[in-house]
Amino acid sequence: MNTQILGEKTEDIQLAAEILQAGGLVAFPTETVYGLGADALNPEAVKKVYLAKGRPSDNPMIVHISSKDDLNKLTDEITEDTLAITEKFWPGPLTVVVKANTSVPRVTTGGLETVAVRMPNQETALKLIAKSGCPIAAPSANLSGKPSPTKAVHVIEDLKGRVDAIIEGDDCLVGIESTVVDMTGPTPMILRPGIITREALEEALGKTVETDRALLGGKPGSAKDAEGKQEDFQPKSPGMKYKHYAPEAEMVIYRGEREKVALAIAEEKMKRLKAGQKVEVIVFAEDKPLEAAHEFFGRLRACDKKDADVILAAALNEDGIGFAVMNRMFKSAGYNIIEIE
Ligand code: TXA
Ligand code: MG
Repeated sequence: MNTQILGEKTEDIQLAAEILQAGGLVAFPTETVYGLGADALNPEAVKKVYLAKGRPSDNPMIVHISSKDDLNKLTDEITEDTLAITEKFWPGPLTVVVKANTSVPRVTTGGLETVAVRMPNQETALKLIAKSGCPIAAPSANLSGKPSPTKAVHVIEDLKGRVDAIIEGDDCLVGIESTVVDMTGPTPMILRPGIITREALEEALGKTVETDRALLGGKPGSAKDAEGKQEDFQPKSPGMKYKHYAPEAEMVIYRGEREKVALAIAEEKMKRLKAGQKVEVIVFAEDKPLEAAHEFFGRLRACDKKDADVILAAALNEDGIGFAVMNRMFKSAGYNIIEIE
């Protein structure tokens, strides 16, 4: 397939919108990561997204809209809580899971009765969605299993030849995917952490927000119950169970007191270098998790470009935005964690 590389000019966005209307695939920038878009209400178009990404078809899409009101077109049940958080955080890196109405094809929801919806905070994305006149299903624009794309060149590397068009925009501001929160129960539940934290949602709602227990304790299923017993929780969000974000290199995370971690990484690096390996180190400032979110996926791809054999990374504190970054880091490393006492 010949992939058109487009810019962000009005006529480029117009062309991209026409491709979407005709059932084609267009990758475009958002503030979180690049998305691979298709008309969310056209089952044939959505099927092509799964194929282009190599994505399992039970992993549902996030549907993107360009105005808050458009949520009404996808669901008949907007609760006060849903209204409160979409009013506060849209446009922005927040996805709400709500009951789907009959207009949403079940191929878009991966067969579920619920649909995930987000209004992105990025000008080109908003113009593209508005011009196309349809809600746009858009998973991250990477090949399934690869780190999410935060720069246009990442999308080109993964999807050139597999999609109709790629809009080349700026690097994504946030760098990790949106917070996904399930609003279908009495207590909102975070299914995927992002830079809109549990604390921020609780403050907006004036009530408790839960985190899917499968996301706690690092590895899925390693969360402990009140008595400290191991429980086998399966993630509620289908996407969270798949191997994700994986660099080609082996990756090891060092968790513990910062100075000791730095020492352990330095020692391991020496050992690996002596053994003839190419070593990359990822250490973010501990007090700047937003910066870590912005850089992380790009750093993974850069390590692959350099043909690293191993990536040695320092863990961040697992609270607030750090929790969201560590969720990605743990998965990239396949939960290969060394505890430094
Ligand atoms: O920031 C983002 O959300 C980016 C940009 C492009 O907007 N999109 C993105 O989409 O990350 P994707 O498809 O890579 O991740 C969607 C996540 C998956 O973990 C999926 O399982 C979950 O949302 N999801 C989608 N619909 C769901 C539903 N109805 N119930 C539970 N989880 C759902
Ligand atoms: Mg993704």
